[in-house]
Amino acid sequence: MTLQRRLWVKSCFVPFFRQVEGFSGRCDDQELGGQAGAPVLTRAADLTPYSTLALSARVTRLVSVRHVAQLLALRRVLPRFILGGGSNLVFAGDFDGLVLHMAIAGRRLAHEDADAWYVEAGAGENWHEFVLWTLRAGWPGLENLALIPGTVGAAPIQNIGAYGLEAGERLHQVEAIDMHSGERVHFDRAACRFGYRDSRWKQEGWHLDGRFAIVRVTFRLPKRWQPQIRYADLAAALADVAQPDAGQIADAVIALRQRKLPDPARLPNAGSFFHNPVVDAAAATRLLASYPALPHYPQPDGRCKLAAGWLIEQAGWKGRRLGPVGMYEKQALVLVNHGGARGTDVLALMQAVQRDVRERFGVELTPEPVFVGA
Ligand code: FAD
Ligand code: EPU
Repeated sequence: MTLQRRLWVKSCFVPFFRQVEGFSGRCDDQELGGQAGAPVLTRAADLTPYSTLALSARVTRLVSVRHVAQLLALRRVLPRFILGGGSNLVFAGDFDGLVLHMAIAGRRLAHEDADAWYVEAGAGENWHEFVLWTLRAGWPGLENLALIPGTVGAAPIQNIGAYGLEAGERLHQVEAIDMHSGERVHFDRAACRFGYRDSRWKQEGWHLDGRFAIVRVTFRLPKRWQPQIRYADLAAALADVAQPDAGQIADAVIALRQRKLPDPARLPNAGSFFHNPVVDAAAATRLLASYPALPHYPQPDGRCKLAAGWLIEQAGWKGRRLGPVGMYEKQALVLVNHGGARGTDVLALMQAVQRDVRERFGVELTPEPVFVGA
């Protein structure tokens, strides 16, 4: 696939990220923190276009944040919620508070040494465009994470992962504004406490109260690049390529994702709606004795990750609807909005699927998206 084609794919896949303007090769303090006294305009808004699930809800005040100065000016306004691209959110109801829509732009090569490139981007940059930009520049390392919707600033929140790689493996530093003190703080990789779809933001509840607004993220891309093609589907897609380069891996990942996942612009969704459950060894042994076909992935700590999509399909929910929402016909782990859904419809389906999987397999499914206004 040519680069132009990849960009076209991106613009079709996540159209509302075009709102992030002012792309720049620079990402310095002036750009992120400058313009003290920058106008702070807030307005009431319909949140439907701000989430890929397209759930109808209203917010009292919404502001597009392009500069750190705006965060500082608004840091005492509560309650607040920090919004990226809305690709991992459920607006469960109206939100009586302030939504800070992160649109801080800028990306650059911050530093280079003998071993690695250090690339950074403002929180509002589109993730997929950022990945393509690194590849175009000849800095491989993020290719397995191509075409994940959302912003750079949200990538550390759930430690986005796909096709054998998690963003935390490449993360060097997160720069954030402490909304309590107004100070600029830095988190290195260890301080982020990354896990599977997990980080310190989730562990501490900062993903809900917006305590630390991420303004910039830096990734370390080692010059001794190694292809990551252990994920079975990716290995199969590249079986005929002797030594795939990063561009070929990105193309294969993009093709796999387009085949499996619905385009939110056509069928609103938030990607996987549940985590793949991680169970202890005894529970895995018990389940596999009854269901040998259950896809499972042994973890380094002895536990076992199970494929939630398989459990949901076996529980009879693949392609099945409840009101205006349903589980996607090609990927049972993805909850889709067939039109006009509200948060209450999503909650009803979520609970029905959880109940049926619990009754059939004794496994608890945990939702992946963040719930706002519940
Ligand atoms: P939002 O949904 O807007 O916000 C998510 C959370 O991050 C919220 O708690 C919000 O408050 C917080 N947040 C956002 N920006 C900031 C900031 N600057 N500072 C502080 N907090 C912030 N995820 C994966 O891991 N792997 C996948 O393969 C994957 N595939 C997907 C496929 C589809 C079709 C869709 C729709 C989603 C998919 N996702 C996947 C989920 C989603 O893309 C990621 O979670 C993404 O990182 C969310 O980014 P966002 O900017 O849309 O964040
Ligand atoms: N499966 C079924 N039926 C289904 C769906 C899946 O049996 O309806 C089986 C598949 O056959 C396969 C297994 O489940 O054996 C895993 O499926 P797949 O490879 O499609 O991945 P997944 O576990 O469903 C996870 C992530 C995705 C990520 C892909 C690729 C989670 C919760 N989801 O999906 O992330 O893109 O792997 O790495 O970990 C997201 O987080 O939003 C997301 C899309």
